[in-house]
Amino acid sequence: QARLVETSKRLAAYQAVKDHLLPEYTRVGIGSGSTVIYVVEAIAALGAAATRAMTFYPTGAQSEELIEAAGLTLQAINKLPAGAQLDVAFDGADEVDDDLNLIKGGGACLWQEKIVATSAKQFVCVADFRKLSPRLGTSWKKGIPIEVLPMAAPRVLDELKRIGSHNPRVRPGLPGKAGAIVTDNGMWIIDAPFTPLLLPKDGESGIQAGNGDNGVWTVDALADHLIKIPGVAEIGLFYGSNGLQAASGAQKPVAAYF
Ligand code: A5P
Repeated sequence: QARLVETSKRLAAYQAVKDHLLPEYTRVGIGSGSTVIYVVEAIAALGAAATRAMTFYPTGAQSEELIEAAGLTLQAINKLPAGAQLDVAFDGADEVDDDLNLIKGGGACLWQEKIVATSAKQFVCVADFRKLSPRLGTSWKKGIPIEVLPMAAPRVLDELKRIGSHNPRVRPGLPGKAGAIVTDNGMWIIDAPFTPLLLPKDGESGIQAGNGDNGVWTVDALADHLIKIPGVAEIGLFYGSNGLQAASGAQKPVAAYF
């Protein structure tokens, strides 16, 4: 199984790069996680002549190292000139639904990942076959990662329970390290499990709008609620519109490869 998963990640990455990294592109976002390693490998395999004019923007320390190790040109996302966009951004996901909504943040980089994804004209997801499920929350059982201000964590947990999350928890630190995981931004992560989320258009089984009644939410309604809780910095739901409306908050990928 492990071998199959790695093969799936590599094939998905090479295909995504083949289809979405056009020779004329100059600015490319690179996400985080173990699948993105193959994305960078596929880009490097194009050769120096193909990538010489390209600059790569990472979502964190891991992708920064990958870009540098591959001999590609690195630039921080805050150096992207005002009004400019990345041509494309590639990133992994923890779960992908039928409508290409994503759960991300298993690696605690979700805030930077959302900044890079929303800075791109096209956001492309690369994952392995285990990640695809009809509704978010089916295969990724750990919950939706939510980046929070540490002082607000108890209030955010209260609100998450009130709206139907089952046992939301502050993510603990790495083994042997006391306390919570601290993100690159000095925040904590709360993982909030919900009953698998409905797609926005889904009026399933008598449930009206999926607006939290009986603990059932649509992706969009839940995301809109979570992001407004005081103390929440960013949420690991990538949803809604995609690429072309990037300036108005595109988060959903234009394509996903498995
Ligand atoms: C990091 O915060 C996540 O959003 C990753 O993109 C996600 O966890 C995918 O990681 P893998 O490629 O290692 O599964």
